[in-house]
Amino acid sequence: MIKVENVYKRFPLPEGKGEFTVLSQIDLEVRAGEVLALLGRSGSGKSTLLRIMAGLIPPSQGQVWSNGRPLRGPNPDVAMVFQSFALLPWLTVQENVELGLKAQGIPREIRRQKALKAIDLVGLDGFENAYPKELSGGMKQRVGFARAFVLEPKVLFMDEPFSALDVLTAENLRGEIDELWNTHAFPSQSILIVTHNIEEAVFLADRVVILGSKPGRIRGEVKIDLPRPHERTDPRFKSLVDYIYEIMTNPEIPVTSEVAVPRAPSPYALPLPHARVGGISGLLELIVEWPQARVEIAELAERLQLAVDDLLPILDAAVLLGFAEVTGRVVQLTEIGQDFANTTILRSKDLFRQQLLARVPVFRSILQTLEEKNSRSMRADFFLDLWDEHFPHEEAERQFATAIDWGRYAELFEYDASEDRLYLPEPSESSSAQ
Ligand SMILES: Nc1ncnc2c1ncn2[C@@H]1O[C@H](COP(=O)(O)OP(=O)(O)O)[C@@H](O)[C@H]1O
Ligand SMILES: [Mg+2]
Repeated sequence: MIKVENVYKRFPLPEGKGEFTVLSQIDLEVRAGEVLALLGRSGSGKSTLLRIMAGLIPPSQGQVWSNGRPLRGPNPDVAMVFQSFALLPWLTVQENVELGLKAQGIPREIRRQKALKAIDLVGLDGFENAYPKELSGGMKQRVGFARAFVLEPKVLFMDEPFSALDVLTAENLRGEIDELWNTHAFPSQSILIVTHNIEEAVFLADRVVILGSKPGRIRGEVKIDLPRPHERTDPRFKSLVDYIYEIMTNPEIPVTSEVAVPRAPSPYALPLPHARVGGISGLLELIVEWPQARVEIAELAERLQLAVDDLLPILDAAVLLGFAEVTGRVVQLTEIGQDFANTTILRSKDLFRQQLLARVPVFRSILQTLEEKNSRSMRADFFLDLWDEHFPHEEAERQFATAIDWGRYAELFEYDASEDRLYLPEPSESSSAQ
């Protein structure tokens, strides 16, 4: 969306003693849909680069492109949130927020409505007529965000937006901004945030570009390949922070994009065998008829009139769930498997649920997500996206369908196909849940 090509910035030294270089050989791209953090020490030229990309000052050399057009003058695709809030003290919250729209010549009533919406989005409902001096620092910066949001810029620039706030206020506002982004309520397609705070960069960004100092230059980038929101408790979060800390304190070491961090396998990466619950229980009920609930797989396939390829996923599922064990050519039901095959439907649902939660981590993960939501529900594509990260789309959809089939049978969750949402069942209905 915005591309910086070989940009240099030099400022004249006082008393005509030549000039000094603040930015050198900068190549940078802000892509659609991403949160990009520009991380560098104080004085490394972050604000200068942001101002150049916003078209507020020209580069000494090189070119900035915005949406395919060379940038000349203020960039119409961006709005900026400043560290210093930069509110006009003689205007109310509402008037401060409307300012940019007024400059664009937007009619009064539309201005009013857009401003109210933006004020609402940042949680300042009811403070429309307050003056900046009546507001706390955190609230002032909320106005700062509303003033940028109201312009609906393609890219939102933030220049250390939380660093003038006390720690708790900063943490709170940062979390809210992240949530707006994660829930697709954010009014921009991309975010570029400038910061010198490593944790903040890792928390918010998909990609962290690291700026070296004297002169400011790009040292490299680190991808923050974590599920959103980025959890500080995730060991990979800590590894990324440690790695970037090491880079920042050692100007010499090269930056590699792929950070070797211990990676707990995502529960969504472990493939579910494609077998319907009906198929699994049918198979178990059949095997349990053999002496010692034990039979050769070939014999089983013949009895079922099933090609081995069709039988294997069902068998894999039974093994995954701890209902059966395969040794050599023989399959044998476990005690739980025999129990499952012989018992009532209600009890078998309980057993199935117990085995799912104990042995298939993705179900715990789905439940945890649903439990964390106040609505006790979540859009299905949220989960589909997680499978999409590990499988081709068609396979991701099959994984999803299998999980739905299993989870519904176990009464772990409900799926509303018309709304395409997953729900936790009402507590009373799942009194026997583990
Ligand atoms: N208009 C200007 N004239 C002269 N020097 C400037 C100007 N703007 C910034 N600088 C200098 O450029 C360097 C980088 O500043 P800045 O971009 O604000 O860094 P950062 O935002 O990373 O702290 C600093 O040394 C600063 O003094
Ligand atoms: Mg700065």
